[in-house]
Amino acid sequence: MKAWNTKDILQVTRQFLESDEFGNKNNIDLLREVLNFHEWKYYVKNDPLIADAEYDRLFQLLKNIESAYPELIIPESPTQRVGNALRKDFPVVEHSLPMLSLDNSYNEADLYDWSKRVHALCQTDDVEYVVEPKLDGSSIALIYENDLFLRAATRGNGIQGEAISENARVIHSIPLKAGFSVSNISKVEIRGEIVIAKDTFKAFNHERMEQGLPIMANPRNAAAGALRMINPEDVARRGLTAIVYQLGMAIDKHGHSLLGSEILSHAQALQVLESAGFKTTFPELKVCNSINEVLHIIHEWDSKREHFPFETDGMVIKVNQFDQQKKCGKTAHHPRWAMAFKFKAKQATTRLIDVEYQVGRTGTINPVAKLEPVALAGVTISSVSLFNEDLIKEKKLMIGDMVLVERAGEVIPYIVKPVLETRTGLEKPIIFPTQCPSCGSVLFRSNGEAAWRCINATCPAQTIEKLKHFVSKNAMDIDGLGEKMIARLYHLNLLKQIPDIYTLDFDAISRLEGYGEKSAGKLKMAIEASKHQALYRLIFAMGIRFVGQQTAKTIAKSISNLKDLYKLTDEDLMQLNDVGHKVASSIVDFMATPSNQMLIETLESLGININSDSSLTITNLPLAGKTFLFTGSLQSLTRSKASEMLEQLGARVMNSVTNKLDYLIVGKSPGSKLAKAQAISSIKIMDEQEFLKFTKDL
Ligand code: IVH
Repeated sequence: MKAWNTKDILQVTRQFLESDEFGNKNNIDLLREVLNFHEWKYYVKNDPLIADAEYDRLFQLLKNIESAYPELIIPESPTQRVGNALRKDFPVVEHSLPMLSLDNSYNEADLYDWSKRVHALCQTDDVEYVVEPKLDGSSIALIYENDLFLRAATRGNGIQGEAISENARVIHSIPLKAGFSVSNISKVEIRGEIVIAKDTFKAFNHERMEQGLPIMANPRNAAAGALRMINPEDVARRGLTAIVYQLGMAIDKHGHSLLGSEILSHAQALQVLESAGFKTTFPELKVCNSINEVLHIIHEWDSKREHFPFETDGMVIKVNQFDQQKKCGKTAHHPRWAMAFKFKAKQATTRLIDVEYQVGRTGTINPVAKLEPVALAGVTISSVSLFNEDLIKEKKLMIGDMVLVERAGEVIPYIVKPVLETRTGLEKPIIFPTQCPSCGSVLFRSNGEAAWRCINATCPAQTIEKLKHFVSKNAMDIDGLGEKMIARLYHLNLLKQIPDIYTLDFDAISRLEGYGEKSAGKLKMAIEASKHQALYRLIFAMGIRFVGQQTAKTIAKSISNLKDLYKLTDEDLMQLNDVGHKVASSIVDFMATPSNQMLIETLESLGININSDSSLTITNLPLAGKTFLFTGSLQSLTRSKASEMLEQLGARVMNSVTNKLDYLIVGKSPGSKLAKAQAISSIKIMDEQEFLKFTKDL
């Protein structure tokens, strides 16, 4: 990463944003550098300097210049992450050094034994260890030559992996141009892990559920599966992060290795990678002089890992100095200089009582296992998703089975396997229905899809799910119209389709049992208020396939009225950041469908806002560039409301404490973020009252 200081980069950024002449083709390299810098701040440092909308404008500027002068497009341009390349196969490539696995330890004695072996191999007791989290994702090898990204490969069998470069390019924490030349490195091979942040994974699953798609069992599977997806656009939507943990090879322009000569230790190698622009394990790394110190760090992490943004299944302990690593050597499977310490898995056994089948918004049939309630990592679990028929078959599950349930971190629990040894012979097979449990229509399963679907457009369960989605928190956010109420109104024929929400018979509602004029009045107000929601919420609420909240925001920013979308083509939409062919054609199809156009017309005539407020230029907003974080629960508004309010003022809401965080807002029963923020003097800490006053006074 070029050593920009904040003042300079902001000044150049402003010039691009504010002066039309400055954004010309002669400044294209500078513009790319500026975009790379902001991408690094956002994706690697989690500490953005500018608002999303400003980044989008810079990105669009570069796109415009490149489309006027296509001869200036270079592969490492920030616009070239998602290419058009779809591939059905991934060529097999050789790793420059085998990608070994790690030996595992499970207790203190294992670690003491290992360190004795290390001391014997190094012929000294003077050994420095480094400890870092073991990231639970999918491993990757990256090659750069002359600072440019060349290739990414999966681990494969350790000797050969699959080249998945197109998919790696869409991961923004993998720089397309990295700063190796300042360290005299001409060619490197780096190893790391592709992971999904717990929050991103939760949101991703939430969106899949809302789209009627089966949810993913854990972030590891979601990351590993994503890397081998055929369409890089799908990979981009997984929100993957690359965290690198090893410099496998580093050679200078004469072909000499720099490892052990100029770069002497693992810690130093990670520093080189940090300054080259990567996200690494360095911020978490601890150097220790004894196994006792190592154990102390491991114990700290046992509770700390709950708050770590990524899933960890253990810690990795490595010999720090490369000359000592060399003395330790390796076996065919693992290096002798490293050892993984595995945390105890959060598992429990319980009985599978029954399987229920839920119908999703798009008609997918989601099998849900009903379990005898069991306590697991602080929560009681009584039902878990079984995802689809194939997974049930693959795991050979039967009703009545004792099953092993696992919950990794804060992730949704899932069934690992049945405990076959405890079968009595009384277990019953799970028979997947052939008809929709809601409307009785025959179910279909298309080629290549895992899910069975009900394709009856008037299926009650689907309609209720569509209504639930429309009013949900991240969509039109109508309080007082919960799941039960929607189902009740539907069955009373008071609410049959989306526009009915805005013509509800409140007299009839106030006469319902358990309901009065007061609650009917409140509901009326919430529905009225939803008419003025921001356009992106309506776009998301309509439930267009593949259009999640983020994509809805991108689209809303690019149009001034919802009906503008009728005219946009695939190509127009693909100009938008992170919108590829699949999303674009889904939007075009949706907008071309007469019943959807009718829905939009009807909503407009009922007074629902279909205009975008994108005329607000984020640059001039009072909190532009400022970062906020919440801890504890707020009393007078929800976190998502508060976050939205901040975003509208130009601020960004972060998910962890870093030393560049500007404000921490402390609610009731704050968590560990408070102590962390108190240790950093530049962070301003406010309670809820102060925060409300602060935003009001802006
Ligand atoms: S160092 C042996 N460090 O764990 C090669 N590996 O079970 C050196 N992993 O294949 C590996 N976090 O994908 C190392 N901080 C970390 C790691 C890590 C996760 C993965 C890696 C490896 C697997 C071994």
